[in-house]
Amino acid sequence: MSDALTIRGLDCFYGETPVLHGLDLDLRQGEVLCLLGRNGAGKTTTLKAIMGLIPARAGSIMLDGTELTKLPAHEVPKAGVAYVPQGRRLFAEMTVAENIEIGLMTRGKGKATRESVLELFPLLRDRLKQQSGTLSGGEQQMLAMARALCLEPQVLLLDEPTEGLMPSMIARIRETVAKLRERGVSTILVEQRVDAVLSVADRVSFIENGRLKETVDVERLREDHALVMRYVGVG
Ligand SMILES: Nc1ncnc2c1ncn2[C@@H]1O[C@H](COP(=O)(O)OP(=O)(O)O)[C@@H](O)[C@H]1O
Ligand SMILES: [Mg+2]
Repeated sequence: MSDALTIRGLDCFYGETPVLHGLDLDLRQGEVLCLLGRNGAGKTTTLKAIMGLIPARAGSIMLDGTELTKLPAHEVPKAGVAYVPQGRRLFAEMTVAENIEIGLMTRGKGKATRESVLELFPLLRDRLKQQSGTLSGGEQQMLAMARALCLEPQVLLLDEPTEGLMPSMIARIRETVAKLRERGVSTILVEQRVDAVLSVADRVSFIENGRLKETVDVERLREDHALVMRYVGVG
């Protein structure tokens, strides 16, 4: 199977502090790859590096023939990578409709894209005129994902999308990720809890101290609890 995104030997620093040490990662075409690892392992940093939000000191991040480490950050979404940051950052003063509009503008998408995104999140369609800051946590996560999907990305990066949400909302976010896979989107899903990923991931990559330790099919994870304990510490 071909890769949607290939990371090799990635080194990243915050100031003079090294955080990623020669990180490798392969995201296959059309899969949901989950990144698991303890707090501070470097998961968020990996996503930021893909988006060009922190520079790569060494290494390569290839998207379909494009070297992302050479692009300025504002070009990365235009190349087809969408990012929903941890804690989701919406324009709280703006309405749902305006947030979606901003997503569409990034890559010059129009009405058809808007419709297909609202189809995934019918709940947002009923709230287009509502101020984003007044949505519930789960609704805000949906809007953040909707805005990202307005790019019609090949690759979607989700950083702990279910953090702090009610179980019913968590289930809906997972369903959406599964639907996106049907649409051919390749997704990197960062989570801290393994039970959050078993039902939706194809493979899981464990990150520890800024390095890739191991990548396994999700079936193996169901059988091998010790593996989870080793890298995450909680089952
Ligand atoms: N803006 C920052 N400045 C300095 N150090 C940071 C910054 N963001 C994260 N770090 C450090 O980098 C390491 C990796 O953090 P992060 O990628 O956020 O981990 P994770 O998402 O896996 O919890 C941690 O040691 C963290 O303290
Ligand atoms: Mg993080």
